Parts: sequence; structure tokens; C-alpha cells
Amino acid sequence: MVKCGINGFGRLGRKLLRVCIEREIDIVAINDVNMSADYMAYLLMYDSTHGRFKGHIKVQDDVLEVNDQKIKVYKESDPKEIPWYSEEAEYIFEATGLFTTTEKAAQHFNGGAKKVIIAASSPDAPIIMYGINTDDYNSSMKVIATGTGGAVCAAAILKEENPAELRKYTVCYLIIPHVL
Ligand SMILES: NC(=O)c1ccc[n+]([C@@H]2O[C@H](COP(=O)([O-])OP(=O)(O)OC[C@H]3O[C@@H](n4cnc5c(N)ncnc54)[C@H](O)[C@@H]3O)[C@@H](O)[C@H]2O)c1
Repeated sequence: MVKCGINGFGRLGRKLLRVCIEREIDIVAINDVNMSADYMAYLLMYDSTHGRFKGHIKVQDDVLEVNDQKIKVYKESDPKEIPWYSEEAEYIFEATGLFTTTEKAAQHFNGGAKKVIIAASSPDAPIIMYGINTDDYNSSMKVIATGTGGAVCAAAILKEENPAELRKYTVCYLIIPHVL
């Protein structure tokens, strides 16, 4: 099974872990500069949006154990310093919101990553939205981005409404709070 890591255990990183556990995707390491393993366990267990975690969570030193799956916890601020190779994590979900260019995301290769999936939009990485343009993905791509949550939702609707014109749309994210 491919082994994966998560960088950034915020709102999105925690949801990612829940989905990966449901789908039996092997998360072997998580890095977040601001969190200990104990705090990760607490935030994973008690989530006011997604509800209480239905499973077992245990912490031993810097290892988070979720349903008997051992996940090593790191606290690095620099992606180049995260030793993904120690747990053989090859696919990294970049979920800090900070390292969204190809160059910045590629810093994970330093620690042994083989592919990086930026869980946000990117100014230069190919944006592959699941179910929207999944066919554009090819295995030579080393860094891809998923697009922001709002863009993925909008694209799903627009694809139904006007598929031929889909690539012409631009999503103005968070414009409403700025305008009001
Ligand atoms: N694709 C989607 O569907 C989708 C949905 C929601 C959010 N997002 C994107 O995901 C990203 C994160 O959003 P969020 O809501 O989870 O934010 P968040 O602030 O809740 O989480 C970010 C986490 O990264 C950690 N962090 C900050 N700097 C770090 C560093 N240098 N190294 C390691 N960890 C660091 C923070 O401690 C925090 O826990 C944003 O870019 C957002 O746009 C994508």
C-alpha cells in the first residue's frame, strides 16, 4: 500500500485524515509546526463541525495511534526538514495553505516524498479536481493541486450546467466579505 503524509493538521488536514482512515489510505506521518501529538489527538477526537471521532485514538510520545494505525508526529516549520523517509511516506498532502507553488511544495522531496498534492489552489501547479478534470492527470506529474474547496464546489455545478465553457470560468474566492 502507498504510504502518505500530511503537512498541516488544521481544519483540512484533520478532515483528510478522517477520510483516509475511512478509505484505508495509509497515513504514516503528520507534520504541524504548532501541535504536539496530544493536541492532535484532542482536535481529532472533538470536532465541532464533523462530530466526535468514531474510533480509538491513543498517544505514545510523538506517535499518534488511530485505530491501531501508528502515525509519527513531526513539528517542523520548514518542509525541507521533515524526514518523510523515516516512515517511507511517498505521497504528501500539503495542507498548510502556505506552500502552494510548485517550487515550495517540491521542498518535500528533500525528505523523501515522491509526489505532493497541494490541498488548495496553486499559481503554477496543474490543478486536478477529482471528478472534474481527473483525466488531465498523468503519472509524470510530481506536484499537483486540488483547487480550493469553493472552486471544487463551483466547478461541479458549472460542469453540469455548461461543460463546454468550464475552463473559461474564474473563481473569485472570498470576495463577498471584502465587498460587504
Ligand atoms: N481543497 C479543498 O477542498 C479545501 C478545503 C478547505 C481548505 N482548503 C485549503 O487548505 C489549506 C488549509 O486550510 P485550513 O482551513 O485547514 O487552515 P488551518 O489554518 O486550519 O490549518 C493550517 C495548519 O497548518 C499549520 N501550519 C502553519 N504553518 C505551518 C508550517 N510552516 N509547517 C507545518 N504546519 C504549519 C497550522 O498550525 C495549522 O494547523 C488552505 O490553503 C485552504 O484554502 C482546501
